[in-house]
Amino acid sequence: MRQKLVVGNWKMHGSTAQVRRLIEGVATGSAGLAKVEIAVGPTLLHMGLAAELCASEAAGHLKLAAQNLFAEPAGAFTGEVSAPMLAEYGVNYVIVGHSERREIFAETDQVVAAKFKATQASGLIPILCVGESLAQREAGTSAEVVLAQLNAVIETAGIEALRSAVLAYEPIWAIGTGKTASKEQAQEIHRVLREHIAKSDTAVAQGIRILYGGSVNAANATELFSQADIDGGLVGGASLKVEEFVSICKSAD
Ligand code: 13P
Repeated sequence: MRQKLVVGNWKMHGSTAQVRRLIEGVATGSAGLAKVEIAVGPTLLHMGLAAELCASEAAGHLKLAAQNLFAEPAGAFTGEVSAPMLAEYGVNYVIVGHSERREIFAETDQVVAAKFKATQASGLIPILCVGESLAQREAGTSAEVVLAQLNAVIETAGIEALRSAVLAYEPIWAIGTGKTASKEQAQEIHRVLREHIAKSDTAVAQGIRILYGGSVNAANATELFSQADIDGGLVGGASLKVEEFVSICKSAD
């Protein structure tokens, strides 16, 4: 049985007061949930504060996710943050290959694969995002696109590397748009991803958690999470609202 995972990707949002409010609120609201694993993803600037808050007894069950890193461990890379630095702060997960990084910051499959490997080299768990654009979906190439993105990482890191990784299917057309993939559309791509991995290693395929991301909210979480191959969510906008995020976490419990 794969443990469900719900990750809040706060993107470039949050003040120190908001980080405090969110973590304390989510911690309290999710205190009684026994099965779901929950992670919050603040900006790198707020990671220290988030780590301090999550070290408290009340919020000790919350994990930390970073939204990005640079693939080198240290060096003359002005403005960047490395995996060993995140590890020192107790970060558990690192989101790599998010479509916003691929599109706005021109991250290629090679860059994403390097970040994936660097994350694992420091003992952290990458959450590898894949997803197609609206044009690609309309052209009927969704499966092809996500498999190419996944293969780029498998070719660099090996199939075994997926043993300690999480996948996230994030159709670009459903991110921040209020448009969600239907449960059938989402399940179909999750199934395709898992079956593809199973061709190389069935145990890895059965063990890997595949999250859905793209306008997950309190109203659609239950039906999405009840699909056979959907193991939780990577939540953007709705993760900035305590009650809504807690409700999503409850749907996964
Ligand atoms: P929204 O939930 O705001 O659509 O964002 C999804 C996402 O990009 C999570 O990483």
